[in-house]
Amino acid sequence: MSYSIAIDGPAGAGKSTIAKLIAKRKGYIYVDTGAMYRAIALYFIEQGIQASEQDKMSEAVVNANVTISYENEEQIVWLNGRNVNGLIRTEEVGKMASLSSTNKDVRKKLVELQQALAKKENVVMDGRDIGTCVLPNANVKVYLTADSYIRALRRYEELKAKGQECELDVIEKDIIARDFQDMHRELSPLKQAEDAVLLDSSDMSIEQVADAIIHLCDKGAK
Ligand code: DC
Repeated sequence: MSYSIAIDGPAGAGKSTIAKLIAKRKGYIYVDTGAMYRAIALYFIEQGIQASEQDKMSEAVVNANVTISYENEEQIVWLNGRNVNGLIRTEEVGKMASLSSTNKDVRKKLVELQQALAKKENVVMDGRDIGTCVLPNANVKVYLTADSYIRALRRYEELKAKGQECELDVIEKDIIARDFQDMHRELSPLKQAEDAVLLDSSDMSIEQVADAIIHLCDKGAK
């Protein structure tokens, strides 16, 4: 039986950084499910589909083939045979992903892919619905959050370091709007699974959060 660690939480809580670190320490595969939703969102944008056109999304998703592979422990997302890693990290794609991930056909396709991966491999999977829907029997479930101001500040510093112009209050507003959208959608909204451990990283370092999760694994959280 493969082992699985599910990490859910709002945008910017540090899920991917932490999940990558744990995957490395445990020798597991890191599955970034947000990147898969982003790849589908990119496909819709490229097809000229609007966020409100749910029927068109349901039709088009059939032709969006998303797969992932690994190179030097880095997840590569392929959209119809094209490596789209360099195209999916924009605000535009993130916003479209939050909206298009409300579509039931999009979710069905990606959840099946994620479940198939976790069946084959030991995984650290992060997203919004991993503990509640994708891997309800995950060995360890964590709900990772942080204050919205802290999350915005982290993002702001990340963008500044890359030399990108940005405003802290605009980033925080966007983060709050995305949280609301992800928590209030009809299908698999973002919420803490009943058996997930809540970790608030506002006053914790990356190492402290990773240690806390490794400790849960060692304890055999489930
Ligand atoms: O984690 P992220 O910012 O890359 O995710 C982009 C969007 O994808 C997020 O706003 C909601 C959606 N998503 C989802 O619905 N379910 C997941 N398991 C992961 C992401």
